[in-house]
Amino acid sequence: MSDKKVLLVYSGGLDTSICIPLMRQEYGYEEVITVTIDVGQDPADIVQAQEKAKILGTTHYTVDAKEEFIKDYCFKALQANGDYQGYPMSTSIARPLIAAKAAEVANKLGVKHFAHGCTGKGNDQFRIEFGLRSLVEGAVIHAPIRERNMTRSWEIEYAKQNNVPIQQSLEKIWSIDENLWGRSIEGGRLEEPDFAPPEEIFQWTKSLENAKDKAEEIVLTFENGVPTHINGTAYTPGNMVIALNKIAGDHGIGRIDIMEDRMMGLKVRENYECPASTLLLKAHKALENLVLTRDEIRFKSTIDLEWSKLAYEGLWWDPFKTDLEAFIGATQTRVAGTVKLKLYKGNVVVQGRTSPWALYSEDLASFDTTTFVQSESTGAVKNFGLQPRMFFSLKDKLTLNQH
Ligand code: ARG
Repeated sequence: MSDKKVLLVYSGGLDTSICIPLMRQEYGYEEVITVTIDVGQDPADIVQAQEKAKILGTTHYTVDAKEEFIKDYCFKALQANGDYQGYPMSTSIARPLIAAKAAEVANKLGVKHFAHGCTGKGNDQFRIEFGLRSLVEGAVIHAPIRERNMTRSWEIEYAKQNNVPIQQSLEKIWSIDENLWGRSIEGGRLEEPDFAPPEEIFQWTKSLENAKDKAEEIVLTFENGVPTHINGTAYTPGNMVIALNKIAGDHGIGRIDIMEDRMMGLKVRENYECPASTLLLKAHKALENLVLTRDEIRFKSTIDLEWSKLAYEGLWWDPFKTDLEAFIGATQTRVAGTVKLKLYKGNVVVQGRTSPWALYSEDLASFDTTTFVQSESTGAVKNFGLQPRMFFSLKDKLTLNQH
């Protein structure tokens, strides 16, 4: 093990780039190892990280985690109808995987010292540090931006003095985080909750005006609560989400503009583009409503909410999460079948659903059949609400007695 080496969780942006000279000059490390995890961000960002790492003289690793991200993180979120305040938690669920991959590299190299570029205001510091501390015993973690209360202008000045390339960072008005489950856009005038998001912030979704003029119908096949086919053609998890991001994005589906309560209690304005995840969450729920019992659906909504809170906070290896997943997993074996969707001008409309596990009988429910003998309901209806009815008749008397 070496205390002279530090592993930097590296995106290639301004915050993490200045961490490279900082680790050498201010934290006394001899070698900086940079690790970039590919979870489906713009490929140009991956290349840029590699190039900057080279210029700044680090030992650089790029880890492709796209399929794993979709299969083991996004699809877990889908089975849990994962949602936090209207946000499919794209950034949140990528952080544990990023930490896990960084930990994997560190454990291979025998490194226990880490650095990341998170600020002290956000959620990512919790998620990444929880991951690293869970997976690397005795991890020492530095967060220079947070620890030194850095501002963007200080960072730019420091970057200039230390030959850190910053041209792209200077041109960037928005703070963007991207992966296959969604794209988050923050910063600039978006920090004003009443400022309408300008069209230029969106890259994956068409505006309502420019979305396709013709509605499109697609059929998704699900097995075990996750999608396997689009219109009968099989896709790997990763390719499924890539394809759906394009299909739904062209119809302007998945733009989200919310006020979000961060872990620290800060309320922030967040904009997201989540075309595939928005569409899949809707389809998945439609299928659950066909196959699960009324009690399962009601109870699962509580389980899903608890799961989502843990996922938002990045507590990926909390045993409570495993417990919740035991219930979720048991229900998902029956979430199989097809869902027909119509996509049009920002909307995903469920048009139909089928399943071998459907708890539905047309013969019983139809207006035109007699299999369900209506007259037998009379007694059940007569005794319905017995206790509240008794209360209702008592309440006037009791009120009188009190005077
Ligand atoms: N508020 C979101 C979350 O905590 C997204 C943060 C994204 N970060 C960014 N730099 N745009 O999950």
